[in-house]
Amino acid sequence: MMDYTKFLAKVVAHRKGNLIRDINALYEKKPSGIVFAGGMPNVATFPIKDISLTFKPNISLKLDERELSSALQYLPTQGYAPLLKKWKEFQTRWHKPKYNDWDAIVMCGSMDGCNKVFEMMINPNDPIMIQIPTYSGVIGALRPLSPEIVQINQDADGIIPEDIAEQCEQRRRDGKPMPKFLYVNPTAANPTGTVLSDDRRRQVYKLAQIYDFLIVEDDPYCFIHFLDKQPLSFFSLDTDGRVIRLDSFSKIISSGMRLGVVTAGKKIVSILSVHMSNSLLHAPALSQVVLYKLLDVWGWDKFEEHFKDVQRFYRERRDIMLAAIEKHLTGLAEWTVPQGGMFFWLKIQGLENATDLAMQKSAPAGVFVLPESAFNYTNTYSNNCLRLSYSYASPEEMDKGLSILANIIRENVKQNSR
Ligand SMILES: Cc1ncc(COP(=O)(O)O)c(C=O)c1O
Repeated sequence: MMDYTKFLAKVVAHRKGNLIRDINALYEKKPSGIVFAGGMPNVATFPIKDISLTFKPNISLKLDERELSSALQYLPTQGYAPLLKKWKEFQTRWHKPKYNDWDAIVMCGSMDGCNKVFEMMINPNDPIMIQIPTYSGVIGALRPLSPEIVQINQDADGIIPEDIAEQCEQRRRDGKPMPKFLYVNPTAANPTGTVLSDDRRRQVYKLAQIYDFLIVEDDPYCFIHFLDKQPLSFFSLDTDGRVIRLDSFSKIISSGMRLGVVTAGKKIVSILSVHMSNSLLHAPALSQVVLYKLLDVWGWDKFEEHFKDVQRFYRERRDIMLAAIEKHLTGLAEWTVPQGGMFFWLKIQGLENATDLAMQKSAPAGVFVLPESAFNYTNTYSNNCLRLSYSYASPEEMDKGLSILANIIRENVKQNSR
């Protein structure tokens, strides 16, 4: 199994477990014990008497006394035990992991997972690789840790393995340390909508072995791709324990429930667990119990059927948005058709300052779009792209919004040529 020592930030050595949490975990294993430790409030004093749920298509149920008590009470740090067991069952079924020494921890969404994973590994100036452009939340989580950012370019097939190899080779020649990890959002990347090909995933994993870096696989759109075949996950390729996989329930179950799972080598999960035990204590109990009940009553077949429905929903919207983009922006912008997720990434003709266009022109006209600058770590990159989401607006709004945007772009081109 991997020795993670060289990948860890100094802060990890200073974090100690929370004894109250550790003793609670012992009680979980021996519920017949007498609890004088900890400060578990008595559930009898809580004002919620029962919780009833109705899941699609029409399954109604009520939490039993034990479930209600778990939903309202503190939970073990790693998560609600029945949910953890279930999700590990799913990971095994879905990814067929190639090594045994892995574990999982429930977190408050993939963002919480990314944040804690970054804190676990980054000392100021430590080199790390990120795909550019990248999700703005990730950029925001990285900035305060002051890593040295090695930017990996993408094309229509996602991150370019040759770029990783070249930059690592150059660092080797210059006697610089290797990046500790690569952050990658492989399926339906935010903001570009590309899916990293299986071939490239294999190449990138090989490079991780050659140059000895870890892979942070942030995969919230894993179930929202528009391809015939489910892409291979890095976790499923992992033989060494060098992949830290982040799943999110935000896009397929509920974003407000704030749930995600980090799956990785046992040692990594135990470090994250120590952090969790001194910060959030655990992800929301009510959300975890509700998610467990859903997965339990649905079973895996229905779960998979559900995300096929979600895929169909977004694919239809992508097609409607594509038609509206072709109608209004032909000649004004370039784009590749997103292979999954929720976003179009448009390169706008003649645009130099997408931030200005988004904030000073488009927003006052009532059309809200995101500029490229939100997805770049440094401002040395171009700022001529816009991200437009097709997840939320109605077809009529898409048509109207794109018509307004087209006029703004035309006006901008005119101004530039004056
Ligand atoms: C690439 C990426 N990572 C993480 C997140 C955050 O997801 P969560 O809601 O699970 O925290 C998002 C949300 O848009 C995302 O696009």
